[in-house]
Amino acid sequence: MALRLLGLAPTAMRALLVLLVLAPLCAARPRKGKDYYAILGVPDHTSDKVVLKKAYREKSLEFHPDKCVSTGSSTEECQAKFIEVSTAHEVLSDPEKKQIYDRDGEEGLKEGGNGGGKTGEEAKQMFRQFFGREPDGNVRIVNRGGQMMFMEEGEPGSQENIYDDSNATELTSDIYKAYVNERIEPWVIQFYKPNNDESVEIHDEYVKFADTFKAFLNVAVVNCRKQRDICSGASINDFPAFRWFPAEKDSPPEVFDEGTPSAKTLGKWANKLMPDHTTILEDKRQLRQWLDNQKLPTAVLFTDKSSAPPMWKALSREFNGRAALAVVLRCDKVGVFKTPLQREYDVKIPQIVKLDPVDEIGKVAEKFESAMRKDILNLWLIKIIAVGRKAGPAASFREWTKERLEAGDCGSGDSQFCFLWLKAGADPAVEDATRQLAQKYRTDPIKLMWVNIDVSFGLLEAFGIPEAEASDFFVAFRPKRSRFKVHTGPLRFAELDAFVDGVINGGPLEAKLKVPKIEL
Ligand SMILES: *[C@@H]1O[C@H](CO)[C@@H](O)[C@H](O)[C@H]1NC(C)=O
Repeated sequence: MALRLLGLAPTAMRALLVLLVLAPLCAARPRKGKDYYAILGVPDHTSDKVVLKKAYREKSLEFHPDKCVSTGSSTEECQAKFIEVSTAHEVLSDPEKKQIYDRDGEEGLKEGGNGGGKTGEEAKQMFRQFFGREPDGNVRIVNRGGQMMFMEEGEPGSQENIYDDSNATELTSDIYKAYVNERIEPWVIQFYKPNNDESVEIHDEYVKFADTFKAFLNVAVVNCRKQRDICSGASINDFPAFRWFPAEKDSPPEVFDEGTPSAKTLGKWANKLMPDHTTILEDKRQLRQWLDNQKLPTAVLFTDKSSAPPMWKALSREFNGRAALAVVLRCDKVGVFKTPLQREYDVKIPQIVKLDPVDEIGKVAEKFESAMRKDILNLWLIKIIAVGRKAGPAASFREWTKERLEAGDCGSGDSQFCFLWLKAGADPAVEDATRQLAQKYRTDPIKLMWVNIDVSFGLLEAFGIPEAEASDFFVAFRPKRSRFKVHTGPLRFAELDAFVDGVINGGPLEAKLKVPKIEL
């Protein structure tokens, strides 16, 4: 025996000695029920929170279903072990419970009821940890034939979806993760419970809201009795709850704040939050500036509403970067109190028109005459874009009118290059040359304008051109610097092209404007 002992490694010997010394101490205090210290594998009577926590973390991982079942145990066994470990940790890390336990053992804690003195919330928390999901209703921990188990109490009443046959989409976890968490568009979501009276009451109104808005928005619902994880993840505690999830996926949702929910108040709320890429136009000057700054095809809605309608906002978002949408608000349907722009155009209210950016301002290129439905308008806008693409950006000279000058085109504050075609007659060869020129420079940041010299004869003086010459002229002009240069030589494409090219590549404009201010 002695020889054998000597044969043991010194560390093992020490361990043996420790055991021999400690064993009588443990035996001296028989504990009723389970030994929580042993369950966690920590020294008896320890109060060291760090030790307890570390032991708990390791053990709870060991009995987590993902790991525990793979080592050959059943889910029930893992569950029982997990509860045991959790309970042990919970008791030993709570000074009050620990004291009771140390004195009276497991029995002492049972007097508090509920499987070892756990509150409902603690049991729920343990449940979530073990199953990785929300429980249905309250959770109790019950003893089933000596094994502790979770029991979901459930909630009374229906669990069934109530929006399955409507325009409001019932979301499941997978869809929610893919489409709401990773959204690129706004979502309106009602979180409801089919066993909640207020949720049931709002059903018809929400369906009405969805019918109206589904063409413009993603309108959805989450049944929080079935999709409990979604609802707890979204921190929803009261039902029904309405949330607007903005298109930017990292922005927090907006909470409905329009009073009693109804189709109308929900509509108002959603409309207020809808992104709006439309431009509001009030008068001719604004309209001209807007048109002149467009590289995209344009469409204008005339409406009697006081803000852009949801459909127009939705289209402005969808076509953002492909078409420019504007709106003229508060038009008079009857036509008695017309707004200034309404007066300019022969439109019924509401009406959508495509404006021609090249020709005379105020010209309607096309009226949208079909039903005001989003799907139809969608096709119409796609057509407009396709046609616009074929024609290319406005490739022509624009008329330099008094209005355009006042709006800033080639006026004293304009820093761009202006090429002015002063027209005296209608020479087909010159028309052809300028058309080619406009085509070539259509994407350059220069302004090509024509003006009738018979009407605006003051221009001749401004550019120092003798009045006697009755022909067309071509002038390079930098309004902000009041500098210009008159083209000499034939008004043919090759010559004009060389002239324009020279000027925009830094050729000096030596002549100074001969008048203090240009008038048209
Ligand atoms: C969806 O809404 C439209 C009206 O926008 C309605 O005609 C249709 O019946 C609704 N569909 C369902 C499934 O309720």
